[in-house]
Amino acid sequence: MKKVQRIIRKIRSEFIRLVYPFKRKGKNLTFHAGVEIYCARNIQLGNDFLIGKDSVLEADETGELTLGNSVHIGRNCFIRCSERVEIGDETMIADNVFISDTTHGYDNLDMPFFEQKNRSEPIKIGRGCWLGRNVCVMPGVTIGDMVLVGANAVVTHDLPSHCVAAGVPACVIKKSQSKS
Ligand SMILES: CC(C)(COP(=O)(O)OP(=O)(O)OC[C@H]1O[C@@H](n2cnc3c(N)ncnc32)[C@H](O)[C@@H]1OP(=O)(O)O)[C@@H](O)C(=O)NCCC(=O)NCCS
Repeated sequence: MKKVQRIIRKIRSEFIRLVYPFKRKGKNLTFHAGVEIYCARNIQLGNDFLIGKDSVLEADETGELTLGNSVHIGRNCFIRCSERVEIGDETMIADNVFISDTTHGYDNLDMPFFEQKNRSEPIKIGRGCWLGRNVCVMPGVTIGDMVLVGANAVVTHDLPSHCVAAGVPACVIKKSQSKS
């Protein structure tokens, strides 16, 4: 059964690689079942890319979504890009992670949010990071290289390289001794 699933996955991955007009596509791309991709022409994928079941990559006409080499994304993740989202090489993203550089406007609390103009600010996530399960990354955030973001964290501010961050909002709880 596993062998059959592997063959189906390979066929699906090759189909998506060939049919979707990605701006850049590396070698060895793996797409699990139920993955949704919007505006592939604004999405760049590096080599050895993997994305899990039911995850979504969504770029707008105005967005630039860039994923480096060996980026691995878990199940049921949602990555949305209206302006710019960049994820560095060898970054691992666990299940249920939400990353969006855009949000509904909320300047006027007397008006339905639906009617308010979206706001966007670019997101950059460095290389070698690990985002734990259920992490949310908010617009305008820069996360350095080799940052571990603990499960359930909401990242609302920039995080420096070589640290562990956790909580809501995410704060640094450990730092590399050699880098400080
Ligand atoms: C971030 C993480 C690696 C920290 O592990 P750790 O180094 O063992 O951390 P510690 O247990 O030493 O915790 C240090 C402090 O941070 C707190 N903390 C740890 N993880 C936390 C989290 N995710 N959210 C909030 N606080 C957290 C601890 O309660 C502790 O606080 P205290 O000193 O007041 O008791 C781990 O908690 C985590 O979230 N791992 C990701 C798991 C995951 O999502 N896996 C998905 C599969 S890929």
